[in-house]
Amino acid sequence: MCGIVGYIGGRSAVPILMSGLKRLEYRGYDSAGVSVLKNGDIEQLKAKGKLSILSSILKDKPLRSRIGIGHTRWATHGAPSDENSHPHMDCKKEISLVHNGIIENYLTLRQELEEKGHKFLSETDTEVLVHLIEEYYEGNLEQAVSKALKRLEGSYAIGVICKKEPGKIVAARQDSPLVIGLGKNENFIASDIPAFLPFTRKVKHINDGEIVILKRNSVRIFDLDLNPVEREVTTVHWDASMAEKGGYKHFMLKEIFEQPRVVTDMLSGRLKEYSVEIEEMKLTDDDLRKINKVIIIACGTAFHASMVGKYFIEDFARIPVEIDVASEFRYRNPVVDENSLVVAVSQSGETADTLVSFKNAIAMGAKSIAVTNMVGSSITRETENMIFTRAGLEIGVAATKTFIAQLVAIFLLSLKLGVARGTIDKEKFREYHEALLRIPDQLSDVLKKAEQIRNIARKYYKCDDFLFLGRSLSYPIALEGALKLKEISYIHAEGYAAGEMKHGPIALIDNLVPTVVVLPRDSVYEKTLSNVKEVRARSGITIGITNKTDDPLDEYLDETIFVPDTSHQLSPILTTIPLQLLAYYIADKRNRDVDQPRNLAKSVTVE
Ligand code: M6R
Repeated sequence: MCGIVGYIGGRSAVPILMSGLKRLEYRGYDSAGVSVLKNGDIEQLKAKGKLSILSSILKDKPLRSRIGIGHTRWATHGAPSDENSHPHMDCKKEISLVHNGIIENYLTLRQELEEKGHKFLSETDTEVLVHLIEEYYEGNLEQAVSKALKRLEGSYAIGVICKKEPGKIVAARQDSPLVIGLGKNENFIASDIPAFLPFTRKVKHINDGEIVILKRNSVRIFDLDLNPVEREVTTVHWDASMAEKGGYKHFMLKEIFEQPRVVTDMLSGRLKEYSVEIEEMKLTDDDLRKINKVIIIACGTAFHASMVGKYFIEDFARIPVEIDVASEFRYRNPVVDENSLVVAVSQSGETADTLVSFKNAIAMGAKSIAVTNMVGSSITRETENMIFTRAGLEIGVAATKTFIAQLVAIFLLSLKLGVARGTIDKEKFREYHEALLRIPDQLSDVLKKAEQIRNIARKYYKCDDFLFLGRSLSYPIALEGALKLKEISYIHAEGYAAGEMKHGPIALIDNLVPTVVVLPRDSVYEKTLSNVKEVRARSGITIGITNKTDDPLDEYLDETIFVPDTSHQLSPILTTIPLQLLAYYIADKRNRDVDQPRNLAKSVTVE
């Protein structure tokens, strides 16, 4: 789970590589490095720590060249250190390589190569690959790369340069993302499009098992046996400003404030009088009628959206829904057949566990839909049916706007299933339609509470433990609130189904532990309120998020954050926002690295 970049063209390579790495830092940021071809030699600089450390080293020792590769790392094999940073070189210092992924059989290969006399300088799995390429090199880099890759088990996206062939970069992918940017007399490789967005919007997506040869004036794609492959050029419609903070202190805050726009975009052109049109989804109403079970798989925040989705689909379409975290689903023996619909939810479309689980379910005959934010990502290659979440680029490692977009996506899917199966009538559909259209303005109203939430954060930011409670649709929102707080503030936070309190967690309550309760006006409001009273009776601090204004809540809540009224199924979209802001302001008050929290990465492309 790292970021790789490469550049070949007429400009100075290193500033372009560094700007690309900056935009890929969300993929990992514990060390970084670049290598270039200069005066017939490979020169490289790499350093443990954030990219800024490498930047300052480069100021003192500039590397000038028009071809190079770079890497930002999230350690898997070998701790973050200068030695374990990429790029890695072969024994003769003729070949340099960057890699994102995991080489599973690296120990066997390392032993074999060491027996042949290769000397290793790092503890990484990656280093075996550059030695393997060296072993096979007979004057043609792509042939050596092809032979070496056939020996690998695992995942990779790689960029390779060789001092004997200074006019080319060879790249390849298997189960790790890789895209090519096409410029005028210059070309780029990267793990993700934003890396080269300031220079080009023309893109070629690379598939698993493909090798690419980039020269200044050409990009040629091949299969692993080096047979040529054709690939169309796509133009992305993002612009570079999407990767800027636009005056906000952090990307996360900017992305929280983008949510009204995201919901508007999600709905645009999709809601008709009594139908939901999802252009990128090919399943027909007839297909949807045949489904007798839905399985939703995802990880992290996307899993919380999937939990909410279970309520939506069961409620609107009356189909049983199974949800599972992808890292569990892939290792069980699920009951899946051609009448099952598997829905994978993944912002990045690259999460390794989600991808493998999705492929497995499809192989068992299931119909499939990918809910993703990334057009052209790996997951979109597995199915003809997508729901794009249209949230725009999300840079903050903590998912915010893409979570809200996922909730809307699954809501739309549920309505679509309900209409196709006749389980939702025109009147109900109209009610939801109207309620959905009000959501962007209501989100703007919630965002006006930012200052109130900031003040609450100032009061409680020193607390070391938080509980988050909710029932029914608010239960996954409580889990999401706890996840947001722990990942960016490093505070211990637990999310619970409110009814579970008395089965254990209530023992944690004392006057130092705030309990954040998601308490919308719905059929379980009274029940959840009873749980709030139980917390209060044990001197706990209570922070409530509610749209119930006609109760004297001050009696039970130390802090109350009001959100507007909506249909109870849509309340998770509104109640999530105060939780995101609370986590943000607490983390900021604690001076945490909000956009790049320790130990995390934006897309988890390793198991
Ligand atoms: O790209 P994905 O949606 O598949 O990512 C899944 C999780 O890794 C992600 O939601 C993670 O939990 C976020 N850091 C949450 O903020």
